[in-house]
Amino acid sequence: MKTDNTVWHDQQVTKQQRAELKKQKPCLLWYTGLSGSGKSTVANAVDALLFERTCHSYLLDGDNVRHGLNGDLGFSDEARVENIRRISEVAKLFLDAGVIVSTAFISPFASDRAMAKAKLEQGEFIEVFIDTPIEVCEQRDPKGLYKKARAGEIKDFTGIDSTYDVPESPQIHVKTAEQSIEACAQQIVNYLIERQFIS
Ligand code: PPS
Repeated sequence: MKTDNTVWHDQQVTKQQRAELKKQKPCLLWYTGLSGSGKSTVANAVDALLFERTCHSYLLDGDNVRHGLNGDLGFSDEARVENIRRISEVAKLFLDAGVIVSTAFISPFASDRAMAKAKLEQGEFIEVFIDTPIEVCEQRDPKGLYKKARAGEIKDFTGIDSTYDVPESPQIHVKTAEQSIEACAQQIVNYLIERQFIS
């Protein structure tokens, strides 16, 4: 619970100075899509390309974050809201450090994605919709979770008995069922170059 007896301290070294040191403009690549859509795979491929270009980037990945920071959260609507709230706060701290951040979470609710965007400066939030049809995700089923959800062994499974709000106007629209992972990753890196987040 937030107390009224805390005061915000501006830091002596600014976000802009940190970013200049890294020769990049910090931004948040917010990947969203169904389970099995390819969020982590594409985000990892982009992260590797950024690393090759000597950009300073970091990926916050759904399953991994749920092993630590958000290990106390399940998959009810309330828990997902809290999951995304924490992630967006952590991402904001990384941006303050001048880093190009990627987050790969289902983030099923449009209101939460809007909340994450509202925490940042204009233009910093880049919504990346990993648009893979549920039939394809279910066919891939890399963790066997769709099978369990269909069998009623997992409740509140996104796309089955829990909502996914399709992004209405994502900055980047990626179709993993139609392009290779390399092409998807390059599409995202090209976006960053065109908008001068990186050179
Ligand atoms: S959310 O909705 O943003 O809070 O979800 P996220 O933190 O990205 O976690 C999604 C991963 O958790 C696994 N998992 C489930 N997903 C959806 N619904 C239910 N009920 C569920 N239970 C476990 C699953 O491995 C998701 O990973 P991805 O990488 O998306 O497949």
